[in-house]
Amino acid sequence: MKHNSQAQEQRRQLRQQLRENRRQLSDKRQHLHARQLAKNLRLSRHFMQASDIAFYLAEDGEISAEYAIKLAWTHKKRVYLPLISPYGNELFFALYTPATRMKLNRFGIAEPAAQIKHCKRAHQLQLIFMPLTGFDLRGNRLGMGGGFYDRSLHFRRHQKSWRKPKLLGLAHECQKLDQMPVEDWDIPVDGVITEKKLYRF
Ligand SMILES: Nc1ncnc2c1ncn2[C@@H]1O[C@H](COP(=O)(O)OP(=O)(O)OP(=O)(O)O)[C@@H](O)[C@H]1O
Ligand SMILES: [Mg+2]
Repeated sequence: MKHNSQAQEQRRQLRQQLRENRRQLSDKRQHLHARQLAKNLRLSRHFMQASDIAFYLAEDGEISAEYAIKLAWTHKKRVYLPLISPYGNELFFALYTPATRMKLNRFGIAEPAAQIKHCKRAHQLQLIFMPLTGFDLRGNRLGMGGGFYDRSLHFRRHQKSWRKPKLLGLAHECQKLDQMPVEDWDIPVDGVITEKKLYRF
């Protein structure tokens, strides 16, 4: 128990530091990274081949997927955004088009004003682009601490290689770590795309 709470404290501090780093990027840098990210998306065969893809709307200094989403629309892909169910703590994915009406969820984050019954679950998508606070070169991922992605992707734990959904983190290069503390429930990603390059794990 003691060890466990120490590990949690270490993760909390690491998240805080990493969030501070990305929030310190200037608007100009953020914009540049978002454009560069969209360019690097083309390097991903998973992106080029997928037709149903989840993105996210950036918060808190996360790398913006705005241009990446526009690129996906240009390529006639169906774009989805995560939606937090009002009941449980799992993610649903709602179709997102330039005409989608948005609303604020219980965390004050904008999400499509869609009904759950019209949404998809993680396993129905071919590719999920995930935000993160930190990643390492083994594919470990640290999120914001809510466990929403981990819970929604729990089914991936029992098999090493899944055909779908492929999981790719989107991040600033300054979020890369040499190593990080990992928990049993953390679901690793298949790759990460930054403003600099595409990492495959
Ligand atoms: N499969 C799961 N079932 C139940 N609880 C879970 C599961 N996965 C994670 N959790 C809970 O969620 C909490 C947060 O997990 P964690 O610290 O890994 O968040 P995170 O990876 O930063 O967030 P996210 O997954 O949203 O990106 C943990 O305390 C853990 O107990
Ligand atoms: Mg986790």
